Amino acid sequence: MDNAIVVEGLKKSYGKLQVLDGINFAARRGSVLGILGPNGAGKTTTVKILSTLLKPDGGRAFINGYDVVRESHKVRSSIGLTGQYAAVDEYLSGEENLEMMGRLYRLSNADTKSRTRELLRQFDLVDAASRQLRTYSGGMRRRIDLAASLIASPSVLFLDEPTTGLDPRSRLLMWDIIKELAAGDTTILLTTQYMEEADWLADEIVVIDRGTVITQGTPSELKARVGSEYLELIIAEGSDFETAENVIMCDELYIDRPRRSISVATRNGVRELKEILDCLEKARIEVESVSLHRPTLDDVFLTLTGRTATAENDHGQTEKKEKAKQ
Ligand SMILES: Nc1ncnc2c1ncn2[C@@H]1O[C@H](COP(=O)(O)OP(=O)(O)OP(=O)(O)O)[C@@H](O)[C@H]1O
Ligand SMILES: [Mg+2]
Repeated sequence: MDNAIVVEGLKKSYGKLQVLDGINFAARRGSVLGILGPNGAGKTTTVKILSTLLKPDGGRAFINGYDVVRESHKVRSSIGLTGQYAAVDEYLSGEENLEMMGRLYRLSNADTKSRTRELLRQFDLVDAASRQLRTYSGGMRRRIDLAASLIASPSVLFLDEPTTGLDPRSRLLMWDIIKELAAGDTTILLTTQYMEEADWLADEIVVIDRGTVITQGTPSELKARVGSEYLELIIAEGSDFETAENVIMCDELYIDRPRRSISVATRNGVRELKEILDCLEKARIEVESVSLHRPTLDDVFLTLTGRTATAENDHGQTEKKEKAKQ
């Protein structure tokens, strides 16, 4: 059996709100599966079901072949979870938190001590080991939280948005740690709202939106699905933006008015660029800047849903505009 995680038609509602509407995916043993989706997509709900904290209304899920509902105790003994919100005790020190987790997982005293020492070292927390957690920075908390979930050397690890809220330096440090874990045998399911994070860390990505899987594949497969290149034009302040939208002869435009940005997916970048610039010049529209870039996963999301996935990237304004074929 190659898959450490198998999810089949999982459903969950809260009252009338259908949060998961029959999702399916699997993660190969030893791989990193990225679940990518915007706020409210159903990521945490999925993680809670897989880690036995929540029961699904329908469908099935297996961890290492064990059913998360019927064999939850067996599932629990082989998983680690770093939740979206820190599960550590503020008034205990870093070391005490890890030791407490060791006892919860029923490790022997000697194993608890040695695992604690090992993890403090691995996560660069030796100097802070005896300080109460309430004096830790956000990045240190995330690290101790992740360390706590690793105390019993789980074979399957769930990381729910492991880097949300971290500054860029702490995020990079976290990425290194996750990469290192992934290089071993641990199967990792991580949720994220960040395209680059899934791109960088995951072997396979499942994109979910409003409780359904909208696409899945390797990072390069997903990127290939949106054409090879992507063109963005910023229209100069003095020129009419609406005219620019109308004269560009492409079937689909992605518009971000506050930034005066128009993007088009393109398959033959330079030639298409020339045609677009010719059209704009004829209409006396001045272009402030042009950029041609390889698609990111954000573009994948935009192509599939008409919206970008992350609030910080979409400026709250990006919309997809489909034109009638001319
Ligand atoms: N206990 C609950 N009761 C009612 N609704 C809930 C509950 N937990 C989650 N929801 C709703 O279910 C939907 C999915 O929530 P979930 O936490 O799974 O999303 P998420 O993808 O983790 O989002 P985020 O990126 O914000 O963490 C949301 O609309 C949320 O408001
Ligand atoms: Mg969540």
